[in-house]
Amino acid sequence: MIRVEKLSVNYGAIKALSDVSFNATPGLITAVLGANGAGKTTLLRTISGLVTPRSGNVFLDDRSLLKTAAEDIARMGVGHVPEGRGVIAEMTVDENLRLGALASKINIAEGLEAQYQQFPVLGDRRKQYASTLSGGERQMLAMSRALIAQPKVLLLDEPSLGLAPLVTSELMKSIRSLCESKQLTVILVEQNAKSALKIAHDAVVLHLGTVVASGPANEVAANDNLRRYYLGLVQ
Ligand SMILES: Nc1ncnc2c1ncn2[C@@H]1O[C@H](COP(=O)(O)OP(=O)(O)OP(=O)(O)O)[C@@H](O)[C@H]1O
Ligand SMILES: [Mg+2]
Repeated sequence: MIRVEKLSVNYGAIKALSDVSFNATPGLITAVLGANGAGKTTLLRTISGLVTPRSGNVFLDDRSLLKTAAEDIARMGVGHVPEGRGVIAEMTVDENLRLGALASKINIAEGLEAQYQQFPVLGDRRKQYASTLSGGERQMLAMSRALIAQPKVLLLDEPSLGLAPLVTSELMKSIRSLCESKQLTVILVEQNAKSALKIAHDAVVLHLGTVVASGPANEVAANDNLRRYYLGLVQ
C-alpha cells in the first residue's frame, strides 16, 4: 500500500503541499480531487520521486521512498501516467509501448501481446504514429505504457482532461475494471470529481495544498459542503 505521511513540498516561496496525509488501500482506487493549483500533480510527482519534499514521508509497503531514485521507485512497481499523457507523438503505438517496457524485466513480445489483448484498439493501431490517435486512444496508450511494466500501483494524473463526456465515462469504467482484474492500487487525480467519484472507493480532497476531507468516495460524494465549495458539483 501507499502511505503518505505529513508531506510538505515547497517550490521556493510557494507552499504546494502542507502536511498531507492519507493511505491508498491496496487493490482499490483512491481519488485525489481538487481545483487548479490544489497540489495534485505535485503529490503524484513526489510519490514517484520526481520532486523532493521539504518534510514528511511516502511509504510503499512500509518502505520509505524518500531516498529512492525515481527509476528505482518505478522498478519497485509504481507506474506513473503524467498529466498531459506524455506519449511521444512522433513514435508509433508499438514504439511507445516498447519504451514503457525498457526499465522492466518483462519479455517485451509477451508484454506487447498482453497490452494488445487488454486494449484491442491499440493493437489495431500498433503501426500508427501516436500523433494520429484520438484523445481517448492516447490516454489508453499512456496507461498501457505504464501497465506493460506490470506495476502494483498506478498513478493517474487527470486522465479525463480534454476528453468528451462519453469517452471519459468509458475510460473511467476501464480504469475500474483494470483495478479489479489486476488488483491494482490506483491513485486517480482528477479535477472531474463527478466522474472520478463514480469509480473510486476512497477520496481525498485537496485545497491549496492541504487535505480538507478524506474518506469513502460515497460519503465524499454525498457531502453538500464539499460538493459546493471544493468539488464544483453544485451550481
Ligand atoms: N515547478 C514548479 N515551480 C514553481 N511552482 C510550481 C511548480 N509546479 C507547481 N507549482 C505551483 O504549486 C502549486 C500546486 O501545483 P500543482 O501542479 O501540483 O497543482 P494541481 O492540483 O496539479 O493543478 P492542476 O489541476 O492545474 O493541474 C501551484 O500553486 C503551482 O503554481
Ligand atoms: Mg495537475
